[in-house]
Amino acid sequence: MPSVVEVTERTLTETLEGLARFTGNGPGVTRIVYDAAWRDAHRWLRERAATLGLAATFDAAGNLYFHDPALAPGGDARTLFVGSHLDSVVHGGRYDGAYGAVSGMLIAAELRGAGKLPVVGFVTCEEEESRFRAHLMGARSMLGTAKAAELDQVVDAAGVSWRAALAEARAAGCAAPLGAGEQPFRPPFRPATMLELHIEQGPVLEREGGAIGIVEHIAGYRRLVARLRGEARHSGTTPMGERRDTLAASAEMILAAEAVATELGAPAVATAGNVRPGPGLFNVIPGECELWLEVRHPGAAALDAMALELGRRCRAIAARRGVEVTLDRASGEDPTPLSGALATEATKLAAEFAIAHRRMTSGAGHDAMEFARAGVPTLMVFVPSRGGISHSPEEFTAAPALYTGYRFTRELARRLAERGAA
Ligand code: HGY
Ligand code: MN
Ligand code: MN
Repeated sequence: MPSVVEVTERTLTETLEGLARFTGNGPGVTRIVYDAAWRDAHRWLRERAATLGLAATFDAAGNLYFHDPALAPGGDARTLFVGSHLDSVVHGGRYDGAYGAVSGMLIAAELRGAGKLPVVGFVTCEEEESRFRAHLMGARSMLGTAKAAELDQVVDAAGVSWRAALAEARAAGCAAPLGAGEQPFRPPFRPATMLELHIEQGPVLEREGGAIGIVEHIAGYRRLVARLRGEARHSGTTPMGERRDTLAASAEMILAAEAVATELGAPAVATAGNVRPGPGLFNVIPGECELWLEVRHPGAAALDAMALELGRRCRAIAARRGVEVTLDRASGEDPTPLSGALATEATKLAAEFAIAHRRMTSGAGHDAMEFARAGVPTLMVFVPSRGGISHSPEEFTAAPALYTGYRFTRELARRLAERGAA
């Protein structure tokens, strides 16, 4: 039976507002993978899907799939995936991930039974790296690239393993049992094509008056954890020339990261997102320090060169200050091209509908990278972000702009589904 669901601007904004209620304490949205807010959001989305005539299936990692009840999980059918992620950064906004996740569910509801390629609305459990020292856990578990060993290797700041966190999520009814063997997540559907609708999170579309960004490339990143060891000594009695101060060395490394990016010029960016000196007192020179560094660039060679140069400068700073440093790669994604054919199709569609649009590169990372690298034809669609602000409670996109992106993506999905895509 074909769908009778019709999604209006109001449906979209009400669903987004509904999802934004599931958050931890503090400003903005804090929804960290498998935490209470995440679990409540997971349950609420499943209930919403049922009211839209969709079945909701989850896999062993807690990824969600909204689909026609007539489409059985575990089959070999090719499907069109539309969605995004459920988790957020700490004190993030209400649109990052949520907009694409909600839209995927609503598009699956509107297009249920409409074409040759069934539409599956997907929601990845984790994308932001806010809890675990692992990246894109949702997309990787969906695509079979996350391995069983990670269940014990991947831990959060409190030492809780992915396996233990999943046991809790399972007990709460938000994850299926793990399978045996190397690939324990057993994704229930096979993506033949993937679309991810997202806010831009940057200033380009707003500045240019564009309504739609057609993303043909995503910048890569490298994340490094620097661990410094110096000497903890009395702050009042140790002369300035006799110190091995790890926090002062970290301060230089932070500026070195900035310099690596500014010297190379846009679009290179570098950030020190965290610094943890120990013991962290007024009267002790920090004898230990952990520093988190990140570099990003859309070009593979430039990205590697930035990571290399930053490492070289950090080691030189440490040597000059008599401090030991180890640099561990925490995570990273290579710069990733998306489907040129889909970008061309989307560009034609935007022209046909007279929607102001441009092709663009994403500076932010996305689940789409993992899909594209797995060989799934993948495209992202952006809508403007007010002031280019994201990963902040200030994140905002007005309802009409959200709905333009929704309708555009729905129409693209409809055409792909009708012809069986590829
Ligand atoms: O960090 C990123 O680029 C993404 O928002 N997770
Ligand atoms: Mn994000
Ligand atoms: Mn996102």
